[in-house]
Amino acid sequence: MAETEKKTITRDDANNLDRTLRPQTWDEYIGQEKIKENLRILLTAAKERGHAAEHVLLYGPPGLGKTTLANLVSKTLGTNMKITSGPAIERVGDLAAILTNLSPGDVLFIDEIHRLSKSIEEVLYPAMESGVLDIIIGKGPSARTVQLELPPFTMVAATTRISLLSSPLRSRFSGGTFRLDFYTNEEIATILKRSAELLNMKTTEDILVKISKRCRATPRTANYLLKRCRDLAQLEGKDLTNEIVEKTFDLLEIDEIGLSKADRSVLETIINKFEGGPVGLNTIAAATGEEPSTIEDVIEPYLIRHALLERTPRGRVATTEAYAHINKDL
Ligand SMILES: Nc1ncnc2c1ncn2[C@@H]1O[C@H](COP(=O)(O)OP(=O)(O)OP(=O)(O)O)[C@@H](O)[C@H]1O
Ligand SMILES: [Mg+2]
Repeated sequence: MAETEKKTITRDDANNLDRTLRPQTWDEYIGQEKIKENLRILLTAAKERGHAAEHVLLYGPPGLGKTTLANLVSKTLGTNMKITSGPAIERVGDLAAILTNLSPGDVLFIDEIHRLSKSIEEVLYPAMESGVLDIIIGKGPSARTVQLELPPFTMVAATTRISLLSSPLRSRFSGGTFRLDFYTNEEIATILKRSAELLNMKTTEDILVKISKRCRATPRTANYLLKRCRDLAQLEGKDLTNEIVEKTFDLLEIDEIGLSKADRSVLETIINKFEGGPVGLNTIAAATGEEPSTIEDVIEPYLIRHALLERTPRGRVATTEAYAHINKDL
C-alpha cells in the first residue's frame, strides 16, 4: 500500500519531546527545593506507615513543573497515576467511575482543578476526606443515598488559578498546598544542559546563559527555545552558535528580557492607549485580542515578577520600568 512507502515519521519531533525531556527522578528535577523537601517528608513518612499519602495541591504559572512533580510523586510512592482534568469530569458519574477504578495507593492527578463544577466538587469532598463516595440513586421522594467505600488514594491536583478554588476544596488538601516559583537563570541553565544532552546537541555555557535569560524563567519555554535553535541550526547546516541563537530569538520576536510579542503588546496597550493605567483586565483583553484568562495566567505573572506591571484594585498599571523597556524598543 502507498501508506507504507511514505517516509517514516517518528514521534520525536512532535510534543513528545516534552515527555523525553521531562525529569524522571528527583535529582533531575531542578530547583523548587522547599517543595521537594516537603514532598519527600510527606511521601516517605506515608510510605513507611503503609498509608496512602495525603492529598497535595500544586499551583503556579504554566510550564513550571506541576505535572512533572505529580509524576514524581507517584513514582516515589511506587503506585500508578491516573490522569484527568477539571474540564474532563463533566458528570458525577465520570468522577465516580474514576474513583472506583483506582487501586489502593494510586495517585489521582487532576489537572486544571479550578475548572471542576460545583456539583462535582461536592462529591469530591467526602471522597477526599473520608474515602467514601455518596451516590444518589433515583429521583424525587424515592431517591436514596448509597455510600461506596473507595480504595485509599492520593490526590495530586494542579492549577494555574488558585484564586478560583473554593475554600472548602482548598482545605481538603491535607498534605499541603505548594506554590511553584519561577526559576533562576542558573537553574534554567542546568535544565537546558540536560535537555541539550538528551537532544544530542553541542552547546556552550554562553548559549545556555543566553537562552536562560529569555525563557521567562520557565523550563518549558527554555526547552522550547532550545528546540527552535536546534531547528534553525539544522536548516542552516550549522552547529549551534551564538549567531543561530540570536537569529532564533529575532524570528520568534523574543526580546532581550524574554518578552514575547504578546507580552509587549499588553504593556504597549496599557501605556499607549490607556496612559499607563489603571485599566481593567477585560479592557486590556479587548484591546489586545488576547483572552482575559491568557493574560491572567500566562502573560501577567511574568510581567509582575519583572516589576513591569502592577495589579491595583482599580486595574493594571504599567510601571516606570515598563515605560523604559517599551520605549527602548522603539
Ligand atoms: N524542575 C524542573 N527541572 C527540569 N525540567 C523541568 C522542571 N520543571 C519543568 N521542567 C520541564 O518543563 C516541562 C513542562 O513542565 P510541566 O509539564 O510539568 O509543567 P506544568 O506546570 O504542568 O505546566 P501546565 O500548567 O501548562 O500544565 C517538562 O516537560 C520538563 O521538561
Ligand atoms: Mg501540566
